[in-house]
Amino acid sequence: MAKIQVFDTTLRDGEQSPGFTMSMDEKLRMAMQLDDLGVDIIEAGFSIASDDDFSSVTQISKKVRRPIIAALARTNPKDVEIAGKSVQSADRPRIHTFIATSDIHLAKKLEIGQEECLERITKAVELAREMVDDVEFSAEDATRTDISFLCEAIRAALSAGATTINIPDTVGYTFPEEFSSLIKTLFEQVHGLNDAVVSVHCHDDMGLAVANSLAAIQAGARQVECTINGIGERAGNASLEEIVMALKVRKDLTEHHTDIHSESIYKTSELLTQITGIHPQPNKAIVGKNAFAHEAGIHQHGMLKDKITYEIMMPELVGAPETRLVLGKHSGRHGLNNRYQELGCELTKEELDRAYTFFTILADQKKEVLDEDLLLILRHGAKKGDDKLYKLLDLVVTCGNDLSTAKVSISFDHNTKEGVARDHGPINATFSAIDEVTQKRVEIEKFEIIAATPGRDAVGVVNIQAMINEKTFAGKGASTDIVNAAARAYLDAINKSEQLESAYLNSLASSDQSAF
Ligand code: KIV
Ligand code: ZN
Repeated sequence: MAKIQVFDTTLRDGEQSPGFTMSMDEKLRMAMQLDDLGVDIIEAGFSIASDDDFSSVTQISKKVRRPIIAALARTNPKDVEIAGKSVQSADRPRIHTFIATSDIHLAKKLEIGQEECLERITKAVELAREMVDDVEFSAEDATRTDISFLCEAIRAALSAGATTINIPDTVGYTFPEEFSSLIKTLFEQVHGLNDAVVSVHCHDDMGLAVANSLAAIQAGARQVECTINGIGERAGNASLEEIVMALKVRKDLTEHHTDIHSESIYKTSELLTQITGIHPQPNKAIVGKNAFAHEAGIHQHGMLKDKITYEIMMPELVGAPETRLVLGKHSGRHGLNNRYQELGCELTKEELDRAYTFFTILADQKKEVLDEDLLLILRHGAKKGDDKLYKLLDLVVTCGNDLSTAKVSISFDHNTKEGVARDHGPINATFSAIDEVTQKRVEIEKFEIIAATPGRDAVGVVNIQAMINEKTFAGKGASTDIVNAAARAYLDAINKSEQLESAYLNSLASSDQSAF
């Protein structure tokens, strides 16, 4: 099994992208975490870019001892000298020097010819070798470079003493097969390349950075350059976690491995998010919020039977929180029942059916139905089954002007009745419309609204105390619509008075019978 060296450039190519700037202390914290993660090389910065960059590389070189610490340098002598100085305290220092080799870059950016380019490579690598034993050379824009010139550039770097040769796909232009054949061709045509480490550095402009890196590994590359969460210039760099886990999960396809402690991947990703304030997109492989979340009913059903149905790696393997079966509008009864059981609630089939009906209504209104929502569903309906209760079927309210109008549709004892009322405020109008249906005299003694779940689609809970037939009843109602929640709370209080009345009548009837 060949070991693949992981060269992490989160602190250089990653940090260089908009919004990812880090302070010196933050870079040091991140470097320490990368050390714990087990990366082989940390590219700590572009030392000549600023005093801050220089100090960060110096600090990391002093404090992070195990991995190789690399500093980036253009081929200018000054760049190389500064890079060398910044890593001089490292136990294992590396200078990484680069120059573009494609005709496009030579003509339009550097405005030099191929001869000049070769000279610069030779001088920079020789100078770097005077300072350190470990020198990496990168042929920027290699995948758009004429192949025979690329071979010449690599020969120049090797003759000058480069120990690692990096082939960057700087603009994310190549395809996996094309890249793999490029790497194979380089091995065939450049004598001595086998004695160096061949590295690849892929950008994700077409979403192919990881696929291209894996293709290059199959073709003989032994170092991959990548970043945590795939951050980096434009669309980003190849993502470290994706490459590492692809090699780990598909051991059947590749005999290559890395020394990354995969259980620390999630923690490292989280640290980067915490430092930069930028979350990976929810559907990001391995570290996204949804990477181990399942919502569809059919998936949840499979997952509950055996995780292998829809999970190719356990979240624990990357240190991620355990699998989440997200309850939303695509979830089914199995998922709902399972979550209720996890919450310690055993539901009868009837109760589950009722809870499911409430759940689907709520799931249409909310992106994700939370545990708090489920408990509210139980408290407000799913456990009740009496037909002799008032049930709110529909509520339409017009408000915003002086008087609000409410129209309710309510069922009771297999009948449906409608009530309409105009009053001051939408809740007031709703209560009046309910009164029209129930024909009860209800006096509100206490009324409160609280947000029971987080977010702007929070469930509002309304608590009321109402005087009905000279007795006080508490009523609770919950909905993402607070007027609807108030209507439910109002009916809840009325239903309690109704139940008390029918219990009283029943007791009268049974005492009558015993008398009989
Ligand atoms: O993308 C690139 O070509 C680079 C080099 C400096 C390696 O980042
Ligand atoms: Zn790059």
